[in-house]
Amino acid sequence: MLKNFIGRKIEKDIFSPDENVKCRFILDSGKIYYSVYKNNEIIIKPSALGFLICGEEPLFDHFGLIRTQTKKHHETIELQWGENRYIKNNYTETAFYLAENKNPYRIMTLRFRVFDDAVAFRYEIQPQNKFRRITIKDELTEFNVDLNTTAWKIPAYQPDRYEYNYEKTPVYNLDQSVHTPLTLCTPNGYYLSIHEAALYNYGSMTLKLDKNQNLKTDITPLSDHTKAHVDLPFKTPWRLIMIADSAIGLTANQTMYALNDPPKGDFGWVKTLKFIGIWWAMYVGEWTWAPGDRHGATTEHAREYIDAAVKLGISGLLIEGWNEGWEGDWLENGVNNEFTISTPDFDLDEVSYYADRRNIEIVGHHETVGFVDNYERQMESAYNYYAKHGIHYIKTGYSGSMMMVNGRREFHHSQAGVNHYQKTVELAAKKHICLDIHEPIKGTGIERTWPNLLSREGARGQEYEGGSLKPSHACMLPYTRLLAGGMDYTSGIFDIRNSAKRLSTTLARQLAYFVTIYSGMQMAADRPFIYEKFPEAFKFIRDIPTNFEETIPLAGEIGEYFVVARKDRESLNWYIGGVTNENDRNIYIDFNFLDDGIYQAEVYADGKDAHYLDNPLSIDIKKKRIVRGSLINLYMAPGGGFAIRLKRIK
Ligand code: NOJ
Repeated sequence: MLKNFIGRKIEKDIFSPDENVKCRFILDSGKIYYSVYKNNEIIIKPSALGFLICGEEPLFDHFGLIRTQTKKHHETIELQWGENRYIKNNYTETAFYLAENKNPYRIMTLRFRVFDDAVAFRYEIQPQNKFRRITIKDELTEFNVDLNTTAWKIPAYQPDRYEYNYEKTPVYNLDQSVHTPLTLCTPNGYYLSIHEAALYNYGSMTLKLDKNQNLKTDITPLSDHTKAHVDLPFKTPWRLIMIADSAIGLTANQTMYALNDPPKGDFGWVKTLKFIGIWWAMYVGEWTWAPGDRHGATTEHAREYIDAAVKLGISGLLIEGWNEGWEGDWLENGVNNEFTISTPDFDLDEVSYYADRRNIEIVGHHETVGFVDNYERQMESAYNYYAKHGIHYIKTGYSGSMMMVNGRREFHHSQAGVNHYQKTVELAAKKHICLDIHEPIKGTGIERTWPNLLSREGARGQEYEGGSLKPSHACMLPYTRLLAGGMDYTSGIFDIRNSAKRLSTTLARQLAYFVTIYSGMQMAADRPFIYEKFPEAFKFIRDIPTNFEETIPLAGEIGEYFVVARKDRESLNWYIGGVTNENDRNIYIDFNFLDDGIYQAEVYADGKDAHYLDNPLSIDIKKKRIVRGSLINLYMAPGGGFAIRLKRIK
């Protein structure tokens, strides 16, 4: 019966609910392809699908179509925390049930979902006979955009993981594998971002131009040079193409979350958090991570910072460098880090007791230095140790260019890395602990399923200031990395001119980050004594929440500027933030998104003479009355930005 299909070409179109996006499935001479159209213009040309499997026949040919199944889905999802409370999950789904028409007669399902602003698909490989555990040698999925498409890329397989500056390049010039989300602008002006959702038990998808100039997946390999070892049945992560008419429109895309499963269990205990930290003082050389005369994480400093947090109106305190393992070259010696033994000058009993009395959440810290084997040996006891001390938040770190897993050097974004990060999230969930992962695996929306994964760093953050961060970087992130979810950018550095760590920013811009860069765990990263010098500016950081009802991107262009409005979940107040690159600019904000109330705007803008290079502290703070339809003009200085709190007064 299947033989009937050999040599025949089958094409089947799947339309989005609004019919503007079309995905075409193609079965041609036993091989499988897909293409994507927006408004009847092709945006992904016919692109191959399938796998190479170690020790088995390849899985991309000799297919016949057994049957298809189409359904329409219409749903509003409520997220426990984030940039939006509600997101739409409306799509047309078609599953293609395929079977090989010659030995070994394997079966596979290709499931497509077509949304108004995205196309997603995944492979579901079924077990049969001997075919029960397989090793993927290569995934063949292509995303064949026009080669003249513009891409904003960061390189994969590099020592600093995802922590690179984005570069703009035509796709035909992509000369190395690049991470996703890979943001693109097609020659006909559509903005796309190629990414994945629900990455479990598989290598992270990177992309590269192959020898035929096709943009093909390059799944991060394991140290044995294969891509993944999986038991069947196995579902790959969703391959996701976000689609928009404008760059700013792309930043509103929420499909990644819609493609993930609802929470696994009751996460009512998870709360987003704002925190300060025993941290930046180490970066500017005042304190050290390692014990000694200038040790940062002492009981005394922790008590002082707890008092400071109370005074500043911030709920949490991160303490880095509290445990055994920081002496000498901590990157080299990290293999022996201890996660239940504190340094002699740090008493966790006393600190946690004091924090509890003062109602401050401690954010514990685990720097694994990528020595996963050492960490996994201690994880259960280390999480218990913190849980016993009433600690519900941990920042983890995986410094180093590679990880050591089962005695082998693996990429952070390989299947081995993905599985390790997942272990931490699941164990932390059991212990009612929330995570902020530094040097993480990229975000693929799994925080919908595991809401205790509150944030990741996973991009070049403010710690790279003092050298390699240009103002354009924070104007890139919303269109690129932040499409993969929130980020702890370690915002709020007010000591901008410190010679040990000179920042490319203005003061108002540091406030803007609290709006433009969302994070479920948001750090006010400077030292409290600095904040005390700027009480008026700090008020914005104190006021802004970390959980929003709704987010409306207002204006921007990739790498140039970004302006966004977010509504608080607990009140009727709005927060608006904007950042610009090295160029100053005037922008208009049209408040037509407001409802009928009356608002008092507290505006924190760059002073007329502000400049990130020579006058970063000039700030203009004023109040204004705003109603729906009000229009205001704001000046952003070179490397500057602004923040507005709209307080509903009637
Ligand atoms: C490197 C990280 O980038 C930094 O944020 C952290 O403080 C240190 N590792 C120590 O864990």
